[in-house]
Amino acid sequence: TTIYLKDYTPFGYVVDSVHLTFDLEPHSTRVTSRIAFAPNTETTDRSFFLHGEQLKLISAKIDGIAISPTVTEQGLSCDVPNAPFTWETVVEIDPANNTALEGLYMSNGMYCTQCEAEGFRKITFYPDRPDVMAVFTVRINGPHPVLLSNGNPVDAGPHWAEWHDPWPKPAYLFALVAGELLAHSSTFTTVSGKHVDLNLYVRPGDEGKCAFGMEALKKSMIWDEQVYGREYDLDVFNIVAVDDFNMGAMENKGLNVFNSSCVLASPETSTDDNFERIEAIIAHEYFHNWTGNRITCRDWFQLCLKEGLTVFRDSQFTSDLRSAPVKRIRDVIDLRGRQFAEDNGPLSHPVRPESFQEINNFYTATVYEKGAEVIGMLKRLVGDAAYCEAVDLYFARHDGQACTIEDWLKVFEDTTGRDLTQFKRWYSQAGTPRVNVTEDWTDGTYTLTFTQSTPATPGQPHKDPRVIPIAVGLLGSNGDEVRKTEMLELTEASQSFSFDGLSSRPTPSILREFSAPVILERDSTNAERAFLLAHDTDPFNRWEAGNALAKDARLNMIIKGAAPDADYLDALQKLVRDDDLDPGFRALVLQPPSASDLAQTLFENEHAPDPQAIYDASETMAQTLAQTLADSLPRLYAATTVEGPYQPDAVGASNRMLNFRMLALLSRLDGGDQAAQQFASADNMTLQYAALVCLLSIDKGAEQNQAFFYQWKDDRLVMDKWFAAQVAFATPEKTAAIAATLTQHPLFDMKNPNRFRAVMGALAMNHAGFHHISGDAYSLLADWLIKLDPLNPQTTARMCSAFQTWKRYDADRQALIKIQLDRIAATPDLSRDTTEMITRIREA
Ligand code: ARG
Ligand code: ZN
Repeated sequence: TTIYLKDYTPFGYVVDSVHLTFDLEPHSTRVTSRIAFAPNTETTDRSFFLHGEQLKLISAKIDGIAISPTVTEQGLSCDVPNAPFTWETVVEIDPANNTALEGLYMSNGMYCTQCEAEGFRKITFYPDRPDVMAVFTVRINGPHPVLLSNGNPVDAGPHWAEWHDPWPKPAYLFALVAGELLAHSSTFTTVSGKHVDLNLYVRPGDEGKCAFGMEALKKSMIWDEQVYGREYDLDVFNIVAVDDFNMGAMENKGLNVFNSSCVLASPETSTDDNFERIEAIIAHEYFHNWTGNRITCRDWFQLCLKEGLTVFRDSQFTSDLRSAPVKRIRDVIDLRGRQFAEDNGPLSHPVRPESFQEINNFYTATVYEKGAEVIGMLKRLVGDAAYCEAVDLYFARHDGQACTIEDWLKVFEDTTGRDLTQFKRWYSQAGTPRVNVTEDWTDGTYTLTFTQSTPATPGQPHKDPRVIPIAVGLLGSNGDEVRKTEMLELTEASQSFSFDGLSSRPTPSILREFSAPVILERDSTNAERAFLLAHDTDPFNRWEAGNALAKDARLNMIIKGAAPDADYLDALQKLVRDDDLDPGFRALVLQPPSASDLAQTLFENEHAPDPQAIYDASETMAQTLAQTLADSLPRLYAATTVEGPYQPDAVGASNRMLNFRMLALLSRLDGGDQAAQQFASADNMTLQYAALVCLLSIDKGAEQNQAFFYQWKDDRLVMDKWFAAQVAFATPEKTAAIAATLTQHPLFDMKNPNRFRAVMGALAMNHAGFHHISGDAYSLLADWLIKLDPLNPQTTARMCSAFQTWKRYDADRQALIKIQLDRIAATPDLSRDTTEMITRIREA
């Protein structure tokens, strides 16, 4: 069944309070609920339906009198009084057999929950919808030393604990954790002097991986006070690390639950990228306390209301704490890699979808990352001061409510007087706009003409023009900026903007800071790109010029059989040696464009991408680049070697980024000698892992790979890296076989999403390996998706997106993939999650 946004109606009852009692038992946990319902005066529909799935109903009462409701697979209905009443049920559930990791489940002997989006209905009968907000009191009875739920602790004794959350919340923010856990504790005093206890709970053995996460939490708390004026609102803030988790982390009120890979960190076991990601995710979940929890979503179509805004906030946070240009460039690389692929394929959907079958399939790059881009555009259009004013009004006006995108846009309209009707198309229209630019230079007037269009997407054949903020600056022939950045507002299908008073024809720098998530189409020359790479004052566009050169050079090799472009090599040579430039920025210019990005561009230009040809061109380019830069490599490798004990700080990380690029190129010249040396002497994971990756990438490193295994076999998170690296960096013809062998390894565990993704996610990400013409990788992935689906539909469905780009490729590959899609679709009892994904992908 398909659910539609247009069908929204409020629930017929409000919930005044919820009392829950849990009697924990691995296979037979009892959940007793006492819920105070009252008729909802906002509506007249009085039908009473409570969601409930996989629950064994033991008893039900209304105002103390036993009743026999009608129970189906989806929930329960019955006649209720047309006045306030008390609802009581006892149900039994089986957390130990809950492999879907949704609702209450067990992970390594500890109990934990994941309720977003619709998991609470697997815990008890309830109106499991985000617009029903209630105050929860929870009692947990269990033998475990740590018993946690939302809100503030009320009281506890041996084998029990009681929690009360004073803030009304939807059921998806409910959480419970019980187990033998250790706390890494600290405190925080809010700006108004309120004392907060902070705890990061982990399994014994992980105590040494908590310090960084705790510091990140405190930085997030201070940042939200200073930048958004948001203070924390409970006496405690608890975070729990869980090994078995479908997603990254969850913002449950006062009790965030994290995939252990997204919170545990130590220099020996985590890379610089891990540290940065952990800091961002801790911030993200913390920021949800206001954007998500205090103000939540009316229904799941509004998911981007909390996710787009919270991603935007966490990216601002990272920009403030680290290098803003590096963060922006990395976000755009990620957006193009994941969101553009989604937006331009069969899974394309608007930032605010209008229908779904399974909401878990809409926790996507479009809702999250494009949703954040839309907020960034809004801020660019209204300006920083107006943005702050509007957001303040949002908090003031909607605190305690379940809201919509309309509510969000209204605060901007009310504070700025702008009409955002056209802007709203960013929420309703799917697909990535193409913006074509032409230019004219006549009598001292320079004119840019922009033409926008968006290709049809599933269910949306026609697209209307959007409001597109295009940041433009102009450079003079000596590289000086003759016009500072101006925010042009493209609103028509085609529109021109003129600049006069210029003494000579300028070089334009268009879409600075990537001011809108569009594909810019413009004829440019290598000379112009090299000029921008050398002179642009906007760091994003400076990188973008290098990226365009890098892509073009490879595309010419692939399409025309050209040799590696001399101008490109020359430009890189100059850039790499420019020690005035941030090493992290230089590393990003040296980072090769991804194979998948090249494939997408080839497809857009009407060439069926050949993954092997892309791989070969990239290898040749790397080899040539190494030879061209040969003289600089040892010096820069040494110069970017960070002295002293490892610190996960931004400056060190930036140096190590460039250091890694140098090592990767050196490995092409010395057969991996330097990498082997680095591997042997590394005292931190960043350097150790970088060395392993460099070796695997040149089809070496068997010895180091084995050493790595023996050193780290007892550390689950490092083992995930070990599994992933061997597949991700394998040569194309070996990829599927290596992945297949690893699935037989004693430490491979399909029930653990991190481990499953380490192998299968890496398989899908090794572009030439996944698309090897043997078709082995396609069938291997399909085999495992079919095996995992009955156990864990969410993770299975998510990984189906590996096939979303299938229409890009040649007829032979399409046929090979089609066989696997058909095979998955024909599997008996396929989950709703996977059925929806495969159906959408096949219908392309
Ligand atoms: N709200 C969480 C976050 O953005 C994501 C939880 C998604 N979980 C799910 N099963 N769909 O941090
Ligand atoms: Zn989120």
